Amino acid sequence: MSVKLLILIMYALSRQAGCEDNGFTYNGFRSANLSLDGLAEVTSNGLLRLTNSTTKQKGHAFHPNPVRFKNSPNASALSFSTTFVFAIVPEYPISGGHGLAFAIAPNRGLPGGLPAPYLGLLNRTNNGNLTNHLFAVEFDTVSSREFDDINDNHVGINVNRMKSEASKPAGYYVGSKPFLQNLTLISGQPMQAWVEYSGSKKQINVSLAPLYVGKPKIPLLSLSYDLTPILEQTMYLGFSSATGSIFSIHYVLGWSFKINGMAAGLDISLLPRLPRIVPKKKSKLLTIGLPVILTVCVLATVSGVTYYVVIKRKFAEVLEDWEVEYGPQRFKYKELYTATKGFSDKELLGIGGFGRVYRGVLPNKKTTEIAVKKVSHESRQGMRAFVAEVVSMGGLCHRNLVPLLGYCRRKRELMLVYEYMPNGSLDKYLYDEPKCTLNWSQRFQVIKGVASALFYLHEEWEHVVVHRDIKASNVLLDSEWNGRLGDFGLARLYDHGTDPQTTHVVGTLGYLAPEHIRTGKATTSADVFAFGAFLLEVACGRRPMEPKAPNEDFVLMEWVFSWWSRGEVLKAIDPKLGPNYVTEEAELVLKLGLLCSLLEPTARPSMRQIVMYLEGSTPHPQLLSLSLSTAGLKGSWR
Ligand SMILES: *[C@@H]1O[C@H](CO)[C@@H](O)[C@H](O)[C@H]1NC(C)=O
Ligand SMILES: *[C@@H]1O[C@H](CO)[C@@H](O)[C@H](O)[C@H]1NC(C)=O
Ligand SMILES: *[C@@H]1O[C@H](CO)[C@@H](O)[C@H](O)[C@H]1NC(C)=O
Ligand SMILES: *[C@@H]1O[C@H](CO)[C@@H](O)[C@H](O)[C@H]1NC(C)=O
Ligand SMILES: *[C@@H]1O[C@H](CO)[C@@H](O)[C@H](O)[C@H]1NC(C)=O
Repeated sequence: MSVKLLILIMYALSRQAGCEDNGFTYNGFRSANLSLDGLAEVTSNGLLRLTNSTTKQKGHAFHPNPVRFKNSPNASALSFSTTFVFAIVPEYPISGGHGLAFAIAPNRGLPGGLPAPYLGLLNRTNNGNLTNHLFAVEFDTVSSREFDDINDNHVGINVNRMKSEASKPAGYYVGSKPFLQNLTLISGQPMQAWVEYSGSKKQINVSLAPLYVGKPKIPLLSLSYDLTPILEQTMYLGFSSATGSIFSIHYVLGWSFKINGMAAGLDISLLPRLPRIVPKKKSKLLTIGLPVILTVCVLATVSGVTYYVVIKRKFAEVLEDWEVEYGPQRFKYKELYTATKGFSDKELLGIGGFGRVYRGVLPNKKTTEIAVKKVSHESRQGMRAFVAEVVSMGGLCHRNLVPLLGYCRRKRELMLVYEYMPNGSLDKYLYDEPKCTLNWSQRFQVIKGVASALFYLHEEWEHVVVHRDIKASNVLLDSEWNGRLGDFGLARLYDHGTDPQTTHVVGTLGYLAPEHIRTGKATTSADVFAFGAFLLEVACGRRPMEPKAPNEDFVLMEWVFSWWSRGEVLKAIDPKLGPNYVTEEAELVLKLGLLCSLLEPTARPSMRQIVMYLEGSTPHPQLLSLSLSTAGLKGSWR
């Protein structure tokens, strides 16, 4: 044999040996050569980001080299140990968009994995197949009934299928005490997990703890299971994660692994930082607010608090020079205080997104019954512009708008005075069972009313007013059961005078148009999107997002679309109505609801068109195509 050949063989052998790993450590992934697919990316500071804000997609990241789990094909599986630090940052704090899993699989990146409840691991066809050779530990943030999940915040051991062999609510034991401390996976905080397998005891242990706490003595999950039939001689290791209709961003900060030994500890100081989440205002309150409050208290005591001062302070208002011109629209605080019996809880009508609303009676005014909305507001800067706007809105006059009578201003508090609507807000009639629900003709009447009010705001008044927060709870019913839109322009308050660097998206989840969330800009087409959600809500008697509904039914628009695509759209109509509705009107409302929900803002109808359809002055719109993609609803119509 020539020397050359020998060298070649030796080189090949060394290559092969070098290709397999029996351990590795990543403190951050900047210099790692992970095999990535789907949404997965390594950020410039070395964070492994498995998913981003794209919905219904998956992301995989695998260690590039295979790992040898058996000394020969028929040998039993060797022990292994791994630890990693991860964080799940949800889009909305109430609900995560599916979780993340550590996976050992026969190949890099699980090619057939589906997003959403499948976490990118498996799909409907291969779920449960013995040939999958998949071992996974899931950190799941959605409760999928089809896989018998215990809750929406659990850790599970999965073998070849999505249904866990063992699972527990996320948490950790402190010391040797058998009390579980709960952990919230979607807290956005980094946590460390350990997964260990003993080849001799044939036992799998999984632990979880907040970062810096260290490995708990008692594992969260302990399962006797022989992995020999599951693991092939060489396997690949990695992470898989997925988003659903709602997304969470899944990060892995560091990871180590070892065959036949303890995985090396991670050096927490070397781990990359998570991107900063919107800074909290609390600290300001403590550093500036607290000393100020204390000083004020001391001063007040020192100067002696007289009865006179108490009264004076009680009714103190903030009145600046520029406000003089708004004289007639300005109410005295004392007047409102008396009208609402001192803002008594008995007069509380409700608590909305912007503050509490009280009923009141004014003795000497034309309109005697009023509703007073107390809005707390921190900043003075925006107030002037906002009050100017409120006052100009006093000029808004339409029979489907709640009339705004005026305002009053105190320190950090703004009170808006509206005409009182005796029948309360619409959502009460849609959801508060079983009392009374509105019949179809009343609902249709309300829809037409709100549409014409919105058309007025968008096109008929002297300048364009974007409402920004259309939803059933902002629609009030007057004594004749006409729908009247309230709270117009209030969302603007959060634009004025807030930190210009943070774009606040004001509005309500489920009614927010995708482009509004993305750009933070409110437009009339974003209003149309919210109006579409409102149409479906009124027709179906369901909220635009129902966190308790089974997975696929979570988003109302998608649920209606699924009925529509089966040619049975009327099945979506509120079952409380029974057969008592007008088919043509119901079809029109659902169809308009879908058109308003189109992803492309310019594809949505305008309020002018909607009013014409609802009034029956033009033939119904004709749908040419409609399809639901991961990004949203696409379609065309004329
Ligand atoms: C990653 O790959 C590059 C080029 O392919 C190589 O230079 C580098 O050493 C590799 N890094 C690791 C940690 O394997
Ligand atoms: C998400 O990640 C994918 C893949 O890296 C990328 O193509 C896409 O633009 C990202 N989307 C967002 C919204 O960042
Ligand atoms: C492994 O086991 C199979 C069947 O159990 C047997 O046919 C085969 O010869 C064994 N191979 C080795 C290398 O022992
Ligand atoms: C499911 O996954 C398997 C394995 O990756 C793949 O071969 C198959 O095509 C997938 N099936 C579907 C319906 O995606
Ligand atoms: C932890 O969560 C469970 C439900 O998942 C609850 O029953 C228990 O009271 C919680 N414990 C603590 C200490 O919050």
